Parts: sequence; structure tokens; C-alpha cells
Amino acid sequence: MENISTTIMTADDEPGYDPNLFCIPKRYAQDLEKVLIPYGLILDRTERLVQEVMKEMRDHHIAILCVLKGGYKFFADFLYYIKLVNRNRDQSIPLTVDFIRMKSYCNDQSTGDIKVIGEYDFSTLTGKNVLIIEEIINTGKTIQTLLSLVKQHNPKQVKVASLLLKRTPQSMGYRPDFVGFEIPDQFVVGYGLDYNEFFRDLNHVCVISEVGKDKYKA
Ligand code: HPA
Ligand code: MG
Repeated sequence: MENISTTIMTADDEPGYDPNLFCIPKRYAQDLEKVLIPYGLILDRTERLVQEVMKEMRDHHIAILCVLKGGYKFFADFLYYIKLVNRNRDQSIPLTVDFIRMKSYCNDQSTGDIKVIGEYDFSTLTGKNVLIIEEIINTGKTIQTLLSLVKQHNPKQVKVASLLLKRTPQSMGYRPDFVGFEIPDQFVVGYGLDYNEFFRDLNHVCVISEVGKDKYKA
């Protein structure tokens, strides 16, 4: 007999994978609707993205700016592949890394109040080829706030690589220079992405369930 899914699909949806097929921390068993992008797929796509970024940024010094906290996993894997390329080339690319912390979400909603947490000295980016590493672009407000701050300090160029880009009517229309995956308008967690700080310790990008949203509500 045909296995009829109880999940209601909308026009812009992807079936994803049953979480039971993957290694998931036990305590999250009820909190996930589906696995949207398994970790292995993220790695393969990241390797390819690195090739594209390197082609475009050539042999210039790249100042990588990782947006915390969500960007830490993508940044770490991105850097892993840059290092692989660098050690296998005759000429290796000079590279520096830096981190900035930003916050705008409570539960699954953007508060619209986008803040840089703590101090960040933007003047260190003046004259540099800046590559911003983000985990997700949703409304685009966070990245546009950050871009305007960075651009005020006259970098030589600034590019943005985001693992995910959400297809949402709330988008301000911003598109990053490099995108890993476009995803439907659902709240995703895992691989660094959180819901009120939970789920960052999950390997795969998953869609949170209503049970999960309720359990970890702020
Ligand atoms: N998940 C986690 N954090 C986010 C999301 C999301 O879907 N969109 C914007 N920040
Ligand atoms: Mg977050």
C-alpha cells in the first residue's frame, strides 16, 4: 500500500528526508519535521562554492568575516576547503579571518532590531577584499545592515557567501554573491542555525516541528 504522508505540502515545499534515517540527538526526536539538507550534501556544495569564490577573488588577500553565532559551522567547513586548495597550489592565497556577532531573532521571527553584539572595529577592513560568511539570508535585513557598516569603511571589495537563501515574501530582494542552497519559507535549524540557541548541535539542516517550536519557546 502507498505510504501517505501526513505532512501538508505547500506549493513551494521540498519533501526532505525522514529524520529517522539520520543520526540525530535523541532529545530532538520530536522536534524536527524533516531533514532538509544532510551534512554530507552541505560539505559537497561547500567544496564547490569555495572553487567559485577562489576563481572570482583570484590571488588577492581575502579577509574572511564570519557572522556569529550561526555562521560558525559553515565558516569552519568553508575554511577547511580553502586550506585544501591553498596547500595544493603553487601560489597560496593570503588569508585572514575575523568574527562579528549579530542578533535579530526571537523564536522564529526577526525582531527587526538588528544589533552588533559587543565591539567590532570595522576600520580593520579598510582596503581589503572582504568575504562575509553567513549561514542564512531570510529578510536580508541583517546582511544589509552589516554591508552598510562594512562599506562605510571603504573595503576594496566586499562579497557575501551564504549557505542558505530563503524564498520568502518577507525578502527585501537581496541576493548574496554566492549561495549554497535556496530553501522554502520554513524555519530551519541545525548546522549552526538555532531556535532560541537550541539545535546548533545538530549536523544537518532540518525543518523544526511545531512541537519543537513550542518546547523551546522564549
Ligand atoms: N533558522 C534559523 N535562524 C534564522 C532563520 C531560520 O530559518 N532565518 C533567519 N534566521
Ligand atoms: Mg539565530
